Amino acid sequence: MNEVYEKTALTRKSVACLSGYLDWNSQPRIFKHYPSFLFGYNYGEKEQLHIIELARMITSSQMIGSKPYHRLNTPSAGNLHPIELYVQIRAIKGIISGIYHVDASENKLVLIQEIEADGLEKSLGLTHKLEGMIFLISTVPYRSQWKYGDRAIRYCYQDVGHQIGAIEASATIHKVQTTILSDFDAKHLNQWMGFKDEESICAVMSIGSENTKEVKELSKPLIYVAPTDYSESNLFIANALAKEGVLKSRLPLLEYEINEEAILKRRSCRAFNASCLEKEDFDSMIALLSKPLSFMQCYSIVLKDDVLEKGIYLNGERIKTIENADAIVNLLVGQSFLKNATIIAVMCSKSFSADKLMLCANFAHALYLQAQSKELAFTGIGAFYDEKLKEYLGTQEHILYVGALGKQ
Ligand SMILES: Cc1cc2nc3c(=O)[nH]c(=O)nc-3n(C[C@H](O)[C@H](O)[C@H](O)COP(=O)(O)O)c2cc1C
Repeated sequence: MNEVYEKTALTRKSVACLSGYLDWNSQPRIFKHYPSFLFGYNYGEKEQLHIIELARMITSSQMIGSKPYHRLNTPSAGNLHPIELYVQIRAIKGIISGIYHVDASENKLVLIQEIEADGLEKSLGLTHKLEGMIFLISTVPYRSQWKYGDRAIRYCYQDVGHQIGAIEASATIHKVQTTILSDFDAKHLNQWMGFKDEESICAVMSIGSENTKEVKELSKPLIYVAPTDYSESNLFIANALAKEGVLKSRLPLLEYEINEEAILKRRSCRAFNASCLEKEDFDSMIALLSKPLSFMQCYSIVLKDDVLEKGIYLNGERIKTIENADAIVNLLVGQSFLKNATIIAVMCSKSFSADKLMLCANFAHALYLQAQSKELAFTGIGAFYDEKLKEYLGTQEHILYVGALGKQ
């Protein structure tokens, strides 16, 4: 059993201990802001930057009590968003080459540092200038740890995976391809990014190609800006991140339905309609779920009899019958709105790692967007009793992601 998995597994006892009173006034800030004297481009100002804006933006805002409540194009366990996005831009006509912070809350790309002969390429294991964009996704664990304790490490990687999925989706719409960069020393890169202990890079993706000109290391690290207003260190999370916190694998080619409207409208479902999906929608979602990533198995728990008989399905075969949704809802920490879902998808793998959590969440992002394109309802589910859910499925594998699909 993987140590991180074991330590972050939910049990009835750990849920009971965690579910005390949470003072939302003590929530750490979820958006990082670089100083306002820095130059920046507002969203919508430059067509060339639309690909970045579509990858990370606020898509819903309201006030809850006296506090603003923003939701983004990316989902996040508890809406805590323990990640940040940066982009190095080089040789894009009409845009100053430099390293930018994507400040979604201000609808702005903030230029942290200009580049010319230098750049982040050297710290990323590249020797020549990359003409195009380099996306760097960091995690700020405290935003999630504040509520979820050690289990936050899983949600951090899952949020990074969703952000990867959102960049992929925007790249697909803009008809360009991304490449994962992984041959670098994360500790060294974090230093050049100007981070202290509260933030670290988990994934890097590029769009474009290297030219023939050699590149120099940055002359100095980027300025330091605290990503939250306050923070508490957590050695377990810090050690896990230091040990294996960076996406190493290439992304699989996912074929799913997507359009810009779906990106802008994507929401997590809060209440499923009690009826079953129409057959055509059911079949297309099951088709996507049945082609999971090479390292994982995806169990589809069908809760309604209309298209397929109720039961647990694996690779198109029913491996277990079920009476009703009660048992699975119970295992999903009693989240009763899930009883009206049509399918609960449980992604499992023999091994548990940061890499696999990010890849599964990237896959789940495709599920969110395909569901939204068809005006169906989907939500990620981070709260489940790990061991009991494994027993229910009859597997020894680790559970990497759970999602629920149904009708709006
Ligand atoms: C990894 C992950 C786990 C989640 N777990 C739950 C959950 O257990 N229950 C739930 O109702 N929503 C869950 N959500 C949905 C979030 O609450 C939702 O993304 C967040 O409130 C923002 O809303 P939005 O997705 O509509 O933008 C999860 C989302 C993610 C990405």
